[in-house]
Amino acid sequence: MIVEAKVREFICTTVHPTGCRENVKRQIDYIKGKGKFQGKKRVLVIGASTGYGLASRIALAFGAEAATLGIMFEKESNGKRTATPGWYNTKAFEKFAQEEGLYAKSLNGDAFSEEIKAETVRQIQKDLGNVDLVIYSLAAPRRTTKEGITYHSVLKTCSQEFTEKSWNLRNNMILKATIPAASQEEIEATIKVMGGEDWYQWMDALKKGGVLAKNAVTVAYSYIGPELTYPVYYHGTIGMAKKDLEETAKRLNRQYKEDGLLAYISVNKALVTQASSAIPIVPLYFAILYKVMKKKGVHEGCIEQMRRLYGEKLSVSDCSTDKEGRIRMDDYEMEESVQQEVMEIWNRISTENLSDLADVDGYWEDFYHMFGFRFENVDYSKEVEI
Ligand code: NAI
Repeated sequence: MIVEAKVREFICTTVHPTGCRENVKRQIDYIKGKGKFQGKKRVLVIGASTGYGLASRIALAFGAEAATLGIMFEKESNGKRTATPGWYNTKAFEKFAQEEGLYAKSLNGDAFSEEIKAETVRQIQKDLGNVDLVIYSLAAPRRTTKEGITYHSVLKTCSQEFTEKSWNLRNNMILKATIPAASQEEIEATIKVMGGEDWYQWMDALKKGGVLAKNAVTVAYSYIGPELTYPVYYHGTIGMAKKDLEETAKRLNRQYKEDGLLAYISVNKALVTQASSAIPIVPLYFAILYKVMKKKGVHEGCIEQMRRLYGEKLSVSDCSTDKEGRIRMDDYEMEESVQQEVMEIWNRISTENLSDLADVDGYWEDFYHMFGFRFENVDYSKEVEI
């Protein structure tokens, strides 16, 4: 069929298969262009189909010739509706990897479940023996635990409600948005979904299954951002979950010390992904940040970030961290001159000057690319197999 973009606020309900393939190909070409690096060789990526997880997988496969096993939660096409982006991305990734003789398999199912963990262990036993790198890159709205309880994550503050400027993506206006305060129950539920418990359970399942290599590394992704977004992010419900993730890294380091395991938190840069575009207030910060970072020549996308993480920071034995033990991939974003300029723009931005002061086009370009649209070399008037 002919697939056109149908955007509703922060989601696109249609997905272009050829465009998704192009999205993956461009990331692969970037990695190839940067040259090979020494990296881990048998990699499990949990949340491998979009955003940071996909970029990690591409960086390690095409940069370090790693065998990759990816876990994702994506919907196949039913013949009438297109599949989700991650489904097409993964098909494309697997094909490109296999063409180069790289091992690339993916399991589509709920990463929070016991079943998918057991299936992953079996797959590793059968094909790889063990894994020496485990990347935890899940962004999920809900989690059902093994006890059968379903928790929903929320994006709220942990104190009083918070009102700030926000970019209304529907009418392109700068309005005020208010983020409500979460109840204690909502804070705890968000920690259950986006905190470290499931990461810990994954490492436990891999260890018990005998598929965790000696001296393995595991990395989970986090975000901090500027003080401006603290109420909604760092000090909000999601921030509480990220603090739990950090505690989990410390716990994993203690628990698996004898195995030589190193557990890291990598604090990544703010980028438009399916998960992040749903957060209120944040898209305006993104669009201003893009403008400032592009002007200074320090802007990066997921693939540039992950090439730098695995090809530079983590490819040496003494990976540099902050005093909390976190790898700071947000170094360019948090640089003082960048933040100063972003805040200066933030204070004067309005509906009238939005497209001058913020990178509105850059924001939408990333957004459409996520769903396989607006690639100049893809013919969208042509019928495509969905
Ligand atoms: P994303 O939405 O692009 O990717 C999420 C991945 O998780 C997808 O592969 C999806 O299939 C998978 N997934 C979701 N629920 C699942 C489930 N139940 N079972 C199996 N797989 C499931 O999100 P993004 O932005 O790449 O986020 C990944 C991590 O990076 C998150 O921890 C996020 O907080 C973090 N991060 C994101 C930043 C951003 O600005 N986008 C900045 C810094 C950190």
